[in-house]
Amino acid sequence: MKVLNFGSLNVDNVYNLPHFVTAGETIASSKMEKFCGGKGLNQSVALAKAGLPVYHAGAIGNDGQMLLDLCHEYGIDTTYVKKMDAPGGHTVIQVDESGQNCIILYGGTNRMITPAFVDEVLAGFGEGDILVLQNEISEIPYIVDKAYEAGMKIVLNPSPYDSNLASCDFSKVWLFMLNEVEGLQCTGFSEPDKIMDELLRKFPDSRTVLTLGSAGAWYCDRDTRVFQDIFKVKAVDTTAAGDTFTGFFVASILGGASPQEALRTAAKASSIAVTRKGAAPSIPTIEEVRNQ
Ligand code: RIB
Repeated sequence: MKVLNFGSLNVDNVYNLPHFVTAGETIASSKMEKFCGGKGLNQSVALAKAGLPVYHAGAIGNDGQMLLDLCHEYGIDTTYVKKMDAPGGHTVIQVDESGQNCIILYGGTNRMITPAFVDEVLAGFGEGDILVLQNEISEIPYIVDKAYEAGMKIVLNPSPYDSNLASCDFSKVWLFMLNEVEGLQCTGFSEPDKIMDELLRKFPDSRTVLTLGSAGAWYCDRDTRVFQDIFKVKAVDTTAAGDTFTGFFVASILGGASPQEALRTAAKASSIAVTRKGAAPSIPTIEEVRNQ
């Protein structure tokens, strides 16, 4: 079984501020830091640090060497990362004093994924392989259709949720990884039970992990529903907490853990990530998670 993550790679430009800038306001930030990020890259780093060999597919631009270097540092296979002569994906991230963030995302090369490139990548994978997806690259509906045709098991984190997902056939998804905002966008419901019920009603063969920030996380499939509370810590920067959760949950489940054990490992990993600055660099190793 091979694991492929087809997803975004971003350079995150992070500004620490007393509070988020409001309309008409100008605030000076004493510090500006550049980190490797992107939901795709963060999730590949989390999968790799959780001990799972992973292939990353995606596209970087002129400024993307640091993203490639980071992949190599963690042993992520970058055979399917394409270099393009264009501006790469990047963000402007404000982090406030409580560690919360708000993000402006520029897709760049992440939005230049074509059906031909998708075909090229998926030719290397087949029946029983795992595909992890988020929604920061172009052609997600096409990737889902082709991967399903090839017999791959699809993990979808529909984040950030937008109209591109309207044409995506969710019945082909094996595992949904979403938070309460994406849960509302996908189902029209805001209560956790109703989100899970609705996903199971529409897609009875799927399974879902629903994360609720400080209110913990749920796993459900047609037979099971289990809850995991958070591990309380003082947050410094919540960027990539969800990506860390996704990577560690998927790696644990594929490694044979029960949903309850996988939720616990993922909750511990993301509780460590929020105590550190940046996206990809904040993700702990499996040893750090075990020793916590
Ligand atoms: O999930 C966090 C990520 O979202 C950041 O690294 C940023 O690049 C945005 O894509």
